[in-house]
Amino acid sequence: MQARTLYRDGRSLVVLDQTGLPHVVRNCRLDTLEDAAEAIRGMQVRGAPLIGATAAGGVALALQLDASDAGLAGAIGVLGATRPTAVNLHWALGRMQARLAPLPAGAREAAAWAEFEAICREDIATNGAIGRHGLPLLETVCAARRDRPVRVMTHCNAGWLATLGHGTALAPVYAAQAAGIPVEVWVSETRPRNQGLLTAWELREAGIPNRLIADNAAGILMARGEVDLVITGADRVAANGDTANKVGTYLKALAARDAGIPFYIAAPGSTIDFGCPAGTSIPIEDRDGDEFRVVHGLEDGARAQVHIAPADAAVANPAFDVTPARLITAIVTERGCAAPDRLADLFPEHTP
Ligand code: MRU
Repeated sequence: MQARTLYRDGRSLVVLDQTGLPHVVRNCRLDTLEDAAEAIRGMQVRGAPLIGATAAGGVALALQLDASDAGLAGAIGVLGATRPTAVNLHWALGRMQARLAPLPAGAREAAAWAEFEAICREDIATNGAIGRHGLPLLETVCAARRDRPVRVMTHCNAGWLATLGHGTALAPVYAAQAAGIPVEVWVSETRPRNQGLLTAWELREAGIPNRLIADNAAGILMARGEVDLVITGADRVAANGDTANKVGTYLKALAARDAGIPFYIAAPGSTIDFGCPAGTSIPIEDRDGDEFRVVHGLEDGARAQVHIAPADAAVANPAFDVTPARLITAIVTERGCAAPDRLADLFPEHTP
């Protein structure tokens, strides 16, 4: 049974603590605004849609203590500063602001919880629709190659762990499985935080064959013809289709182009930032160098960490990169698939 990534329990939020995975499956209770902000910063919750929903819940937690205008503005300020790249964070906070600010303080707490629940419900429905719209991409490969499974490559984790359900990049994979299409997934490790381990874990739980690869193995596999299509998620899609996603995505798109393999982004409308003209305007998060220097794992069954670089080694740790629209075959959304420069056709309400 699939665990839940985030839910309300009385006056608290409960999250599946992703820092323990894949070795330890445990939940974590968030009682305060600061708990929610720290869960996002520390990546107990991660993945653009889940970050947004957690932030919405964080606003509800804050309003339980202070539902004044200042309390609302303060909560949105704290949560909005947690992670810069995933625009779903700002989408969710903007939605909370628009819903709550006009209300009298006494009505805000209940309305905040109701809006949080709506965001969670909608995320599941949205991702289900992404799966349905992405399914034909795999069906086409399957129809052409009945002798073997469809071979998908993905990067980072854009599965159900990164959302309220179904995932984004993995939603078409789950839809294919439900449709009886044999599918295998190449899962890149995704250094430095190794979110690929989360992807391998959730695919294995779902019974979908998958193989972990070192990030640098993606090119040889594509060149050898062992990949039919690449699908990744996104943290922010600019209006021109340039897409920020976990660092390493760009290199996969380059290799896919050279090998003639289609490269898809799967993302909900809440990840498209129509106010951001191009990828050069997307803020890229730089994270702590210890994410690179220190590797976490198990030693004799106990959680352990190993320093693979000296504590004072100089490192750079950009957490995301931008794949230019010209390398993206199509973007799969809850409203259908579009070429990256035709997103406004699917979301005309955002056309200036
Ligand atoms: O730093 P993370 O783990 O939050 O980054 C996650 C990703 O880059 C995902 O691919 C993206 O958010 C899409 S999640 C459906």
